[in-house]
Amino acid sequence: QTQTNLFFTTAKDVAHLLKPRKKFSHKGIYGHALLLCGGFGKIGAAVLAARGCLRAGVGLLTVQAPSAGYTVLQTAVPEAMTLADKHRKHLSELPQEMDKFNVIGVGPGLGTERVTKSTIGQLLATSSHPLVIDADAINIISSSEKLKAQLKRNQLIFTPHPKEFERLIGKSNNDYDRLKDMLEFCQEYDCYVVLKGNNTALGTPDGEIYFNTTGNPGMATGGTGDVLTGIITGFVAQNYTLKEACLLGVYLHGLAADLALNTVGEVSMTASDVVDHLPQAILQLQ
Ligand code: APR
Ligand code: MG
Repeated sequence: QTQTNLFFTTAKDVAHLLKPRKKFSHKGIYGHALLLCGGFGKIGAAVLAARGCLRAGVGLLTVQAPSAGYTVLQTAVPEAMTLADKHRKHLSELPQEMDKFNVIGVGPGLGTERVTKSTIGQLLATSSHPLVIDADAINIISSSEKLKAQLKRNQLIFTPHPKEFERLIGKSNNDYDRLKDMLEFCQEYDCYVVLKGNNTALGTPDGEIYFNTTGNPGMATGGTGDVLTGIITGFVAQNYTLKEACLLGVYLHGLAADLALNTVGEVSMTASDVVDHLPQAILQLQ
């Protein structure tokens, strides 16, 4: 019987986590993230994740995308280095030099093509990076016992929405059981789970649950989840612990959306508005 600890994340819980930048620092200190995101018709997911990652303060960012997305990414996100996959429409290979990255965010917009599935398999089998796993990467892992068996490794964050959660962990009897099931999964795989929705819940391998207190229904629009994947990846790149990266990322993502209410409101809010307000959210928290 493990003890469950429930918390609500407020500004004072996360404000002190933000590390000030050192005067003589350089970009090498703030990490090099790799995002494996985007597929034909969903290159926007990679753009949004990349923008979230950059606004979270990553030092360097590389995005690997299907070659059809190469020009899009270079144009929409000039700060990110882009690697063109040999496949035009889908992720089908990993970058040659993986050692230079200190975190990998994977999933948004990927699709579930066979080539992409085998690339995710290769990632789990060969890399020892911290991984932020979202969207179709969760769906791909959920559909394969072989891939699930490869999750017995260090430093994993999953960021499922409720449907993805159900595919990954199973259907729970009720909301309470869902949280218990989440903690069981966190303990079994020694991982963090960010169960997204209103009052996003972070489950930790230590049996804690942190409910977020920022965010609003304006976020119920395609792409806001992709932004969060980028933000959390960006914080891990900067050497925040996985727990800190989840707490800070989820809180700031919701706060950015709350700040966007002033100018665009709930109805018109888009994922771009959320990422555009991330700087203001960070300034407010500092
Ligand atoms: N209140 C507060 N926050 C909300 C609310 C709400 N009512 N609704 C959604 N959010 C937040 C969630 O907490 C999460 O951070 O918005 C984000 C939505 O993320 P996703 O559900 O992952 O949606 P998104 O990824 O943007 O959708 C695009 O990608 O993950 C796939 O299958 C998914 O089709 C979807 C696509
Ligand atoms: Mg999503």
